[in-house]
Amino acid sequence: MSAPATHAALAIEADGLYLIYRERDVETVALRGAEISLPEGAWTSLMGPSGSGKSTLIHVLGGLLDPSGGRVLIRGEDLTRLPQAERALRRRRHIGMILQRDNLHPLLDVAGNVALTLRLDGRPAAQVRARVAELLARVGLSAHARQPIGKLSGGEAQRVAIAAALAPRPDVLLTDEVTGELDEETAGEVLDLLADVRAREGTAILTVTHNPLVAERADRMLRMRDGIVIEAGRGTDSG
Ligand SMILES: Nc1ncnc2c1ncn2[C@@H]1O[C@H](COP(=O)(O)OP(=O)(O)OP(=O)(O)O)[C@@H](O)[C@H]1O
Ligand SMILES: [Mg+2]
Repeated sequence: MSAPATHAALAIEADGLYLIYRERDVETVALRGAEISLPEGAWTSLMGPSGSGKSTLIHVLGGLLDPSGGRVLIRGEDLTRLPQAERALRRRRHIGMILQRDNLHPLLDVAGNVALTLRLDGRPAAQVRARVAELLARVGLSAHARQPIGKLSGGEAQRVAIAAALAPRPDVLLTDEVTGELDEETAGEVLDLLADVRAREGTAILTVTHNPLVAERADRMLRMRDGIVIEAGRGTDSG
């Protein structure tokens, strides 16, 4: 089946998402029919109370968790139907992710982290070097290329994570509390960087955040509650 033409303008589209965590005999329904679409080149922000399912949604959109129900379309194509290896490849090429924690490989230095997905993708060494140099310059860390990850400040580490996520020129960048542990000034720099990336490369961005300053930078603001995405300003908030 070919995807309807309306999908062309959406970088990611997901609907009917259910995700149930099972731990011993405890079940947590983290997503209950969530739907979301991320238009190409748009900056969407997602807010919502702690435990409402935001990180779970990011994991499912990025293919790190399999939903118990529903589907995720990447540029109109259903990833959940692809074999595991093919899915991993698509994910690596089309989706950049910055998670709430543990984004960087502690045994690789700064340049090694930025190069990682390109190397996994089998890109030629010269191409990898050029892209890494370009990205490190862009995030202001050229002088730190050989620095071990454990010796970076929080803001520097976050900039490395952004450079690493952007290395393969993904269509979409999914970020979870990207400014979470940064002071206001450093957070502002990280947000400027995201805005710059979007302007230059047309990357669609999702920022999951508790910070209203982050949400303000976005074109669209969505909210999540009890495992469902609620469109902001749609008047669904009564009661
Ligand atoms: N690995 C897991 N195993 C079991 N339950 C989990 C797991 N991860 C999350 N949960 C539960 O699923 C629900 C949604 O969690 P999630 O991390 O998606 O929330 P969140 O909106 O990102 O919250 P926060 O704003 O605090 O980051 C919560 O009730 C949480 O306790
Ligand atoms: Mg979270």
